[in-house]
Amino acid sequence: MTDKTALPPFLAACRRQPTPHMPIWVMRQAGRYLPEYRDVRSKVGFAELTRTPELAAEVTLQPIRRFAFDASIIFSDIMVPLEGMGIDLDYAPGPVIAEPIRTLKQVEAIRPLVPERDVPFVMEAIKLTRAGLPAHVPLIGFAGSPFTLFAYLVAGKPSKEFSVPRSFVHAQPEVTARLLERLADAMIVYLRAQAAAGAQALMLFESWGGLLGPHDFRNVALPPVKRIFEGLKDLDVPLIYFANNCGTMLDIISELPVHVVGLDWRVPLSGARKLLPGKAIQGNLDPAVLFAPKAALEKRIDEILADAGPAPGHIFNLGHGIWPEVDPDAVKRLVDYVHERTSK
Ligand code: CP3
Repeated sequence: MTDKTALPPFLAACRRQPTPHMPIWVMRQAGRYLPEYRDVRSKVGFAELTRTPELAAEVTLQPIRRFAFDASIIFSDIMVPLEGMGIDLDYAPGPVIAEPIRTLKQVEAIRPLVPERDVPFVMEAIKLTRAGLPAHVPLIGFAGSPFTLFAYLVAGKPSKEFSVPRSFVHAQPEVTARLLERLADAMIVYLRAQAAAGAQALMLFESWGGLLGPHDFRNVALPPVKRIFEGLKDLDVPLIYFANNCGTMLDIISELPVHVVGLDWRVPLSGARKLLPGKAIQGNLDPAVLFAPKAALEKRIDEILADAGPAPGHIFNLGHGIWPEVDPDAVKRLVDYVHERTSK
């Protein structure tokens, strides 16, 4: 019999408590690798999907019906609150900004976010999704980190090197700082509104912080992130920081007041455990490994489990978002195998 008073495994692992099996979910678990998502998308555009609570809740629940995931993440995008702040943007499929930010005047013209007024559909989608989820599957709310949002806002479109925002940091330090501060303040109210609507954990995606070296990461990207997590500290929900490509900066990241650090596949988990005392870790199978035959996939999962060690406080995940080309059967093998290997 399961203990009805126990925390769901995902929330327990965030707090480094023992769990009956290791929890697992995958970044971008609702998305184009699922035929049922492609069906919905054949009828509505991506932006409309994020603005229609019934549809956003439906695609959030799709992977939960198919796989034994231990957490759900609300279907939206890191750029959605920026649309609410008056930024004209489109998805192609990555975000494209009509007028990339280059001046202080543009920064000052960005409206402060009032979530209930500007993006009510996100909170509505959270409520509908929570009502449709089983009790043992917590719902994660999320936002983009200020530097990651800054990278898109200044570059104007997805880019490999992000040379425009990277040079902008040095050419326009005051405008950069002001924009990051505005974004931080908006993400605090945005994440608080998601928690009030029913999100049981909050995750910040630092997808592009790894573009910076340790000096600039500490001085430019980190202060607004600290400001956000300080602004959420009083909430009784686990805070997760996905530190993509930041493996050389974990000593800096260890200073953040978060419960969990998400890691990409370039980071050995045993080393990360040492550099992140008191924090849980989340990750970090290379999404490419989902294309391996069954035995090789299982071997890589075993290696990750062995490297992270048996201490509580490990949530299994991919090291970055799942690719659209992945066979859903490989995801089922991954989830079931992690549960089988870690069941007590
Ligand atoms: O299931 C989930 O994880 C929730 C949904 C989710 C999306 N975007 C849906 C989406 C989440 C958590 C995000 C976050 C996001 N968006 C990040 C951080 C995570 C990361 O990958 O590093 C970033 C950098 C973005 C910006 C963004 N939005 C990009 C780069 C793209 C194109 C990506 C692609 O896969 O082609 C988007 C659009 C987007 N966001 C899609 C989805 C499912 C594809 C849109 C479509 O259906 O056409």
